[in-house]
Amino acid sequence: MSETIDFKPGLEGVVAVETEIAEPDREGGQLRYRGIDIVELVGHYPYERVWGLLVDDDLDSAMPEPEPYEPARLTGNAPSDLQAETARLSGVWRLGKLNEISDEQARDDLGRLSAQMMGIVARSARIADGNTDEVPAAVVAQGRTAAEKFLLQWRGEADPRAVKAVDTYWICTAEHGLNASTFAARIASSTGADCGAALSSAVGALSGPLHGGAPAYVKPMLEEVAAMGDPEKWVKDTLDSGKRIMGFGHRIYRAEDPRSRILKETARELGSSQIAIAERLEEAALAELERRHPERPLKTNVEYYSAVVLDIAEIPPSLAPAMFACSRVAGWSAHILEQKKTGRLFRPSARYVGPESRSLSSVA
Ligand code: COA
Repeated sequence: MSETIDFKPGLEGVVAVETEIAEPDREGGQLRYRGIDIVELVGHYPYERVWGLLVDDDLDSAMPEPEPYEPARLTGNAPSDLQAETARLSGVWRLGKLNEISDEQARDDLGRLSAQMMGIVARSARIADGNTDEVPAAVVAQGRTAAEKFLLQWRGEADPRAVKAVDTYWICTAEHGLNASTFAARIASSTGADCGAALSSAVGALSGPLHGGAPAYVKPMLEEVAAMGDPEKWVKDTLDSGKRIMGFGHRIYRAEDPRSRILKETARELGSSQIAIAERLEEAALAELERRHPERPLKTNVEYYSAVVLDIAEIPPSLAPAMFACSRVAGWSAHILEQKKTGRLFRPSARYVGPESRSLSSVA
């Protein structure tokens, strides 16, 4: 049977699941969570309610409050701390296997884990900043939203501009269809693994620079262009030397990435110190990319203004993948639950292209 199916490197264009959660709208440049345009969510509902929309299809539902938990020794490397601790929670909380627990139990497990995962990233970031103490739980509890609590747990304070920046970034990146980390989460769930195992698989997949790390490259790029002072020349020089401009182009979108629009508005509204240079570079890049690639729309993608918005909250580029993981717990949780309810064990085929049958003595 495998002979008759085309091999698609990277599975591009292969439909592997049916979903009711979200799938990017290629041509219209809109992103909808369970049918709701994210433009209607940002600024109206905090991230934790958007979590409820994605996981429970209910904006009145929300990601629960985190429960008291003592992580093992964190290292300050947030993605690896997050992956290890999420897997460890399965054991600490004795989570049941997905194929043996009810849908309600799985939803509870995902809620507990999601809330805790944000706390793990905040604590790991605090260690990376050189702190050895923890922010008292009573201080963290004063936060009104998940974003505010996150910043309090990390730094002991939460500037309202930083809260808005983090909340907007989290909502914009909470879900994006069957990307690599979501696929990893669904694969693990399809085997009946527990929710901690499925979420930690997703964190591992997200930690790679091709998926969760791109904003880290945008900030240094903006600094370089600002120092040089001539975005048009910078763009031409960069493209002439065969390099790509980070934050432009997308595998799916052929129109402007809708998340980019929202993040740009937020960066303007919050008075980002980088917005002026970012807009000048964007204008120069779009014009030159269109001139060089008239056949293919290469528009601003989510990573570009994510970097500018995260900078408002003084999130260091190295923390970008873990910030992304905090937001994507919503999409991952929704997909794990959907996989449990409707999915089937993943077992694709590989086309064997190795040696013909041969004798052991020919290689010994
Ligand atoms: N800067 C300059 N040229 C770009 C470009 C960019 N950001 N993105 C694509 N191109 C060009 C490629 O050089 C290629 O040109 P060629 O046909 O003359 O070789 C053409 O557009 C198609 O590129 P391809 O890599 O096939 O497109 P893709 O849809 O598979 O890639 C990305 C999507 C996101 C990987 C790609 O646009 C990219 O590398 N962007 C920069 C990195 C980035 O912003 N990553 C975050 C993604 S959310």
